[in-house]
Amino acid sequence: MKALILSGGKGTRLRPLTFTTAKQLIPVANKPILGYVLDQTSQAGIEDTAIIIAHETGEYVKDYVKDGSAWRIRVTYIPQEPLGLAHAVKTAKNFLKDEPFVMCLGDNLLGEGIKKLVEKFKKEKLDALILLKEVENPTAFGVAVLDDKGNVVKLIEKPKQPPSNLALVGVYIFSPRIHDAIDKIKPSWRNELEITDAIQELINMGCKVKSEILKSWWLDTGKKDDILTANSIVLDEYVKNEIHGSLDKKSKVTGRVKIDIGTVVINSIIRGPVVIGKNSHIENSFIGPYTSIGDDTKIIDSSIEHCVILNNAEVREIERLEDSLIGKEVKVSKNHNSHKALRLMIGDYSEIEV
Ligand code: G1P
Repeated sequence: MKALILSGGKGTRLRPLTFTTAKQLIPVANKPILGYVLDQTSQAGIEDTAIIIAHETGEYVKDYVKDGSAWRIRVTYIPQEPLGLAHAVKTAKNFLKDEPFVMCLGDNLLGEGIKKLVEKFKKEKLDALILLKEVENPTAFGVAVLDDKGNVVKLIEKPKQPPSNLALVGVYIFSPRIHDAIDKIKPSWRNELEITDAIQELINMGCKVKSEILKSWWLDTGKKDDILTANSIVLDEYVKNEIHGSLDKKSKVTGRVKIDIGTVVINSIIRGPVVIGKNSHIENSFIGPYTSIGDDTKIIDSSIEHCVILNNAEVREIERLEDSLIGKEVKVSKNHNSHKALRLMIGDYSEIEV
């Protein structure tokens, strides 16, 4: 079994952050989303992994994953134009050869591993096993219809009138027959070769296509609020009390808080779940629940809650910062002008609410 991880795309909904990184590398609880995806495939025992990258952001992905040894996997990088998930499989054909493979989207997070899914695929000798989840807005996804035995009988990509509320979560396991199915499909209205159409083609070819319904949470982290939600859920589930930095006597930490080495906390209150990276400086501040703060940041005379703050950012004298995603090297500070004018230098595609 091999793994194909999709880490391409332009990430337009996360601009300006995606001008200097890949959307799959935005951190959730201080770890890039792609890192969680690789954890799941490596925990399922898959070593041979290809990562699909975009020309624009591929170098950032390579710089993070390197040779894959941090996950004990072997990594091959495959550049691709964003022409659909089935097109990505086609592009990876030389790597996949005639082996079965797991395909995962590098910007989707699941609350449970995929080991059982891999075992089921092998045991039942399937041609495709897809993971589904009930959603409230099925028009935004690929949707599947099941018969009463759990066989997949029909699939539609982004249906206007959804035949069910079971969305395709971005995890698929395929036998090599998927390549024959992909050869038969045509690009969709959005000019992409859809994997949903290829799975429908497998069904038409009489192949065994089954599904599993995901019981835990699933998050597609394409937008700011999705990142904040993912951050809250991951902090809630995984953060343990681990204080490696230093706190002075006037500081107070409650709840589950992880503070990395080299970070200094002075006269501040930190209420978990919170993670703070290395070599950061927190002074005269309140860090409220569901906040992740990266490395080398400065939070001074400020109050923050439900935020994701990336490396080297600085927040000074901000009374209340909530529900915000602050990029690398960003500075947010109070304006001491008497006429209270806003003074901004904001990158292209930024969003601010004042
Ligand atoms: C893709 C798939 C869709 C699936 C979704 C999961 O959609 O085409 O079937 O439900 O991922 O995130 P896209 O993100 O390309 O709109």
